[in-house]
Amino acid sequence: MSDRLLACVILAAGKGTRMKSDLPKVVHPLAGRPMLSWILETAESLNPAKIVVVVGPDMPEVEKLAGTHGTVLQDRQRGTADAVRAALPKLDGFRGDVLVLIGDMPCISAETLRALVTARHATADRNKTADIGLSILAADYPDPTGLGRMILSADGTLERIVEEKDATPAEREVTLCNCGAMCMDAERLARWIERIGCDNAQNEFYLTDLPKIAAADGAATRIARAADPLEVQGVNTRADLAVLETHTQSRLRRAAMLSGVTMTAPETVWLHWDTVLAEDVKIGPHVVFGPGVRVEKGAVIEAFSHLEGAQVGPKAKVGPYARLRPGAVLEAGSKVGNFVELKNARLGEGAKANHLTYLGDAEIGAHANIGAGTITCNYDGFDKYRTEIGANVMVGSNTALIAPIRIGDGAYIGAGSTLSHDVPEDALALTRAEITLRDGWADTFRRRKVDTERKK
Ligand code: UD1
Ligand code: CA
Repeated sequence: MSDRLLACVILAAGKGTRMKSDLPKVVHPLAGRPMLSWILETAESLNPAKIVVVVGPDMPEVEKLAGTHGTVLQDRQRGTADAVRAALPKLDGFRGDVLVLIGDMPCISAETLRALVTARHATADRNKTADIGLSILAADYPDPTGLGRMILSADGTLERIVEEKDATPAEREVTLCNCGAMCMDAERLARWIERIGCDNAQNEFYLTDLPKIAAADGAATRIARAADPLEVQGVNTRADLAVLETHTQSRLRRAAMLSGVTMTAPETVWLHWDTVLAEDVKIGPHVVFGPGVRVEKGAVIEAFSHLEGAQVGPKAKVGPYARLRPGAVLEAGSKVGNFVELKNARLGEGAKANHLTYLGDAEIGAHANIGAGTITCNYDGFDKYRTEIGANVMVGSNTALIAPIRIGDGAYIGAGSTLSHDVPEDALALTRAEITLRDGWADTFRRRKVDTERKK
C-alpha cells in the first residue's frame, strides 16, 4: 500500500428504508455484531490517520458504534455524494488519500481495501500519460440488480458509472458493478464533490458521478476488481442480510476449524463473532453460540446445545440438548447433560448435572453429582437467592432446593426432597411424605368399574 496518509469516510446516514425497520440499517447484526462494527474494524486495520462516520439525524445507536471515531451529521439524505460532502469539514487540511466506504458492505476484507488504495497509486496507463485520480472497487455480480453499472470505453477504461434507475436496457445488461468503495486524493475530492449535481432519476447527488468529473479534470479512474462478489455484497434488504449471515458464518466456522476445532456438521453450527473455541474442542451438529462464549481445550459440545455468556472449561462435556445461559461456568472435566439449564451457576471440577435440571445462581463444588430433575428455586418474584452445594455432594433425583441454601461438603440428599434449610457436611437430608398403602385397592376398584360398565 502507499505510504501516503489515509483517511476513511464511512457512509452510514441512509435510512435503509428497504430494511423496513426502526433500527438504522448499519446497526443490523451479522453473527451478532452490527454491520458498521465489522467495516470499522476492517478500516481500522489499515491504520488510517482518521475515520469519519457519516450519520443521519436520530441515529444514537450509530453514533455509539462509531465510538471514538469522529461522526458528522448529514441532516438530509440527498445521496452518497452529499454524504461525503458532509464529511469534508472533518478532512479540512488533511493531506493524503481518502478511502470512501459505504456502511452497508460489512464483509469487505482489508486485503481488498489495500488493493484499492494501491490501485490509486499504480502507474496510469501504458503511455504513462494519464494521471490516476481515482480508484474504484468493482466486481462481476451474477445478479447486478440495483447496482451502479461500470460503463467501459472501447479501450477498457472506465467511462462512467450509471445507476440502475438511470440505465438504458443495454446498460442494465452489464454485470461489472460498483461495489461502493473509492479512493482519491483529499484535495481533489473536495473540489470534485462540489461539481456533482442531482440531475438524475432519483434527484440525488451520486458519488458515482466522480469518474466523469475526474475525467473532465484530466484524471483517469482505475478499476480495482474484487475477486469474490459475496465479499463486497451490499445489504439493502433483510434477504441480503441473510445471504451475508451465511457467508459470515462459513468464514467463522472455517477459521475455527483451521485453528483446531472439530465440527461434525459445520454448516449447522451457528457462531457469534466473539465465540472463542480452543484447540481440540469438538462441536456436534446444530449447536448455537450466542454472545460471550469461551470453550477451553478438549471440551465437547454435543448436538442441539445452546450457549451464551458461558465458559466451558477444559475437557468439560455439554449436551446433547443443554442450555448454558449467561454466567454459566463449567470447570475442568465437568458435565452438563440433556435438558439441563444453567444460569449464573458454576459447576466445579468434575461435577455432573446429567439430566433435566435447572441450576440458577448456584455454586456447585468439585465432583458433586446433581441428580435428574434437580431444581434450584432461586426466585421469589422479586429477588434472586443463591444455592451453594459443597464438594462431593450427592443430590438425589427430583430435588427442589429452596434458596438461599447451603449443602455442606459430602452430604447426601434423598431423592424427591424439598429442602429449605442448610444441610451440614456429610449429613443425609431428605423429606418424605408418609406413604398410604391399601392392599388390593386397585383390584377392587377395577372390578367395580367393570361391573358398572356391564350393567349399562
Ligand atoms: C450505491 C451506489 C451503487 C453501488 C451500490 C453498491 C451510489 C449513488 N450508488 O447504491 O453504484 O453499486 O451502492 O452497494 O453511490 N448514504 C448516506 N447518505 C445518503 C445516501 C446513502 O450516508 O444520502 C449511505 C447509506 O447509509 C449506505 C450507503 O451510503 O450505507 C449506500 O447507499 P444506498 O442508498 O444503499 O446506495 P445503493 O442504492 O445501494
Ligand atoms: Ca446499498
